[in-house]
Amino acid sequence: MDWGIQNRLSRIIQPKTGRTVMLAVDHGYFLGPTSGLENPRKTITPLLPFADSLMLTRGVLRTSVNPQNNVPIILRVSGGTSILKELSNEAITTTIQEAICLNVAAVTCSIFVGGEFEKESLMNLADLVNEAAPFNIPVLAVTAVGKEMTRDSRYLGLSCRIAAELGAHFVKTYYCEGFEKVVESCFVPVVVAGGKKTPERDALQLSYNAVTHGAVGVDMGRNIFQSEKPVSMIQAVRAVVHQGATVDQAFDLFQTLS
Ligand code: R5P
Repeated sequence: MDWGIQNRLSRIIQPKTGRTVMLAVDHGYFLGPTSGLENPRKTITPLLPFADSLMLTRGVLRTSVNPQNNVPIILRVSGGTSILKELSNEAITTTIQEAICLNVAAVTCSIFVGGEFEKESLMNLADLVNEAAPFNIPVLAVTAVGKEMTRDSRYLGLSCRIAAELGAHFVKTYYCEGFEKVVESCFVPVVVAGGKKTPERDALQLSYNAVTHGAVGVDMGRNIFQSEKPVSMIQAVRAVVHQGATVDQAFDLFQTLS
């Protein structure tokens, strides 16, 4: 792998632990003013010191993140859809030139395996890998799951493997039973999405399950920024991901910090 790609990836996946806590705040690109992200700057600023990277769109980045911040940016460059229509019908929204101007550490787009626009979304990923390659910018593939799909190891394994085959440098997917099979058959690092808001202990359990079954970390959004105590929550997630804390230890930490 090229030096530039390795260097950028090592800003995201911490070499000390081989793990990462990515903070996802890109939800508005199809959900609009998601609860907890109505004012992105207010939500993001206190969390930044605890995030290994920030996943967001150019709109939020330009307006809501202080450029003096040194947090690695994973730029969401797919979109063009909303929850009112077919979500798999995404296109690439942001040029690689703009990603370079914004000094990003990686770019990301979603794929919708089994979705109505499966081929288009897979070609978005392939084209993005091609565009980013001359500049050594790594690509994160997000395996989006349509309502009609089952989040099991067979389906997620299929999506992750296809993403890796098309050249994604790392993949974000969901945790499921038999998750180790998903990781084993995907030859690039896998991070786990948090999903809908659940009680803090459950989200810590998810983080624990993810890393103990082979994920390099989490890319978590709602379970952090929709928590009543987001700053405590991200620190508790860090304890699980980077320090090997058990769920009990991390939940104790969450309560103490709160
Ligand atoms: C969805 O496609 C978005 O990329 C989110 O970043 C992703 O779902 C992770 O956020 P959450 O932990 O809220 O599921």
